[in-house]
Amino acid sequence: MSHLKQQILELQRVSEALEPNEEQRNTYIQEVSNYANTFINGLEDAKAFSSEPLTPNAMALSNEKKSLKEILKIYAAEVEAKGIKPASGGHIGYVPGGGIYTSAIADYIADVTNEYSGMHFASPGAVAMENELIDWMKSIFGFPETAIGNLTSGGSIATLIALTSARDKYGIKNAKIEKSVIYLSQQVHHCINKALRIIGLEDVIIRHVELDDYSRIITDDLSSKIKNDKAAGLNPFLIIASSGTTDTGAIDPLQEIGDIAKTNNLWYHIDAAYGGFFILTKVKKDFFKGIEMADSLVTDPHKGLFLPYGLGAVLVKDKASVYHSHHYRANYMQDAIGDNMPVNPADVSPELTKHFRGLRLWLPLQLHGIEPFVACLEEKLLLTTYFRERLLEIGFKLGPEPDLSVSYFWYPCKAIDENTFNERLVKEIHDDGEVFLSSTIINNKFVIRMAILSFRTKLKTIDKAVKMIDKARKKLSL
Ligand SMILES: Cc1ncc(COP(=O)(O)O)c(C=O)c1O
Repeated sequence: MSHLKQQILELQRVSEALEPNEEQRNTYIQEVSNYANTFINGLEDAKAFSSEPLTPNAMALSNEKKSLKEILKIYAAEVEAKGIKPASGGHIGYVPGGGIYTSAIADYIADVTNEYSGMHFASPGAVAMENELIDWMKSIFGFPETAIGNLTSGGSIATLIALTSARDKYGIKNAKIEKSVIYLSQQVHHCINKALRIIGLEDVIIRHVELDDYSRIITDDLSSKIKNDKAAGLNPFLIIASSGTTDTGAIDPLQEIGDIAKTNNLWYHIDAAYGGFFILTKVKKDFFKGIEMADSLVTDPHKGLFLPYGLGAVLVKDKASVYHSHHYRANYMQDAIGDNMPVNPADVSPELTKHFRGLRLWLPLQLHGIEPFVACLEEKLLLTTYFRERLLEIGFKLGPEPDLSVSYFWYPCKAIDENTFNERLVKEIHDDGEVFLSSTIINNKFVIRMAILSFRTKLKTIDKAVKMIDKARKKLSL
């Protein structure tokens, strides 16, 4: 045998470790399945938050190999057990994700087959699946067939795509930037501000529109701000509304804002990352009237459809403006392009190679149908009402009734400064960790936030939360 062949075969013997045989694969799967079952079965009794610090060097890589069992043990002790447990129904802080099991199965298949879902040529099936999901979302939000969209890693990247398209449609560059105006609410998610900085619009003029007592945009103020800016020779070009604010669960008056955007020829963006899928519920459907007027919309299945983190979506009506920044042809791609091909995800996103993330939504939808998702959303709305009623019973003050499932509360302490008391209360709640809640500042007031969106949050979770909050409050009041 030639020396070259010998060298290749020697290396092959070592590199073969990367292709476990069927028996090893079955063993791995069994071990992972055992791990997942222990994890899921223990979720209900596990704390939703732990502030315990990491063991020093817990994640250190070494040349010494470990068995999968040992690796899972490290994972359980250092990753799973520390910080917030997003898979727990007791996670009612920030915006919970949840993480339905059947999505994890889909991810497993997507990873094993490793489909290249950026280009139709590489995987027509994967791209067709992702485009089907985009079409499904277009129909939910009343977008026309001609709109395009993308499945992103989350709401922030979806927002980046949407706002880049708005920028390109209106040609906001160079000297135009400093004269251009964006209208939004103080309650928009900070990914909007981040996106504006990233896309070179840091120096645009931002107008914060006045809000009503429910944290919704006051449209008269919006109209008059636009009028004044036009009279001053400025360049209004974008209005951003939210259908489900992160702090207050508020839905802006979408239709009225849409009318204003249309009259003034402005791009209309709606951030429905958290709240969008509540449009599927009977009780809240009407709150979303006017959402179809948006030029771009962001909605996150890893929030409102309870998927594990890693799936957002953007829809945009104007294909040309999306293509302006995202569509590209390179010589080495020549085999993959042709006329009359479906929209390639790579043409609607900064990403070329990406995770085949469509399967994690398509498979559960095929398997379960839409009913359990809608029931779960309706359940979250009722649990929000139930939680608020229970908090009132134990002496807390509530923020205004939310449009969706995020709201806030505080304890009206007389003995010491109210903000200080509530800050201590949150610290106490975090130290307990049975259920996780976060805090925020509303109108300069420190308040405790509840965000009910995990598919695992049930009636008994809320009872547990109320008991924990009451216990913490009593402990501090002593
Ligand atoms: C209303 C809203 N928009 C956008 C985002 C950002 O989404 P992501 O965290 O998926 O990037 C969030 C996240 O909580 C949100 O609540």
